[in-house]
Amino acid sequence: MTISGVPIFPSGIVKQYNCPIPFYDDIDLSSFSYEKYKGSTKLRTEKFVNVLLDPSLKDIATWIEMQAKDYLDNELGLEYEDFFFSESWININGKGGEQTIHNHSNSIISGTYYLKSSDGHPPLDFHKVKNEAEPFISLTEHLKQGNPSTALKLSFPCTQNSMLVFQSQLYHGHMANLLEEDRIGLSWNALVNFRQADKNLYRIRFVQEGT
Ligand SMILES: [Fe+2]
Repeated sequence: MTISGVPIFPSGIVKQYNCPIPFYDDIDLSSFSYEKYKGSTKLRTEKFVNVLLDPSLKDIATWIEMQAKDYLDNELGLEYEDFFFSESWININGKGGEQTIHNHSNSIISGTYYLKSSDGHPPLDFHKVKNEAEPFISLTEHLKQGNPSTALKLSFPCTQNSMLVFQSQLYHGHMANLLEEDRIGLSWNALVNFRQADKNLYRIRFVQEGT
């Protein structure tokens, strides 16, 4: 199947960044404390601990920041003054660990850097949001496979030393880890202060805590 039409109003942009530096061996995961949240099957660093601000993660934070800037500049093409990591956390998914479908509130862009993963770990699935308030004729059952413009779900691999960056409103999750090996990701949210040429418009400013 060859597509020559232009997909209009696609729901989002996901970009994979491959990191030339394997950070996993330089990070002491045991220096952080973890919690298991109600209804969750994974370990996660404590809420409100912004791990990327930890001095021990300075190198990975710098790399992530560079890629986030590329995403804002070249993928979204935003006019902005600055951005910062408003939240960041580490997820450790042992065998059986999964992530139900969710999106990230109070955030503009998000990402997940895969510190550790193996072949066979579940990919990150992005889901199209259905908005059906009226009767409609479904094409879902009649679609050929493999068309990203019409797919209801797109999966991106959780390759070790790579990072997926995406708009925070996109719904995503992953199936259970069926392997013995841990699937470990470092996720983050970032807020963006937009550039505003017209001073007559209202202005939203985000301020980083502690600054
Ligand atoms: Fe998420």
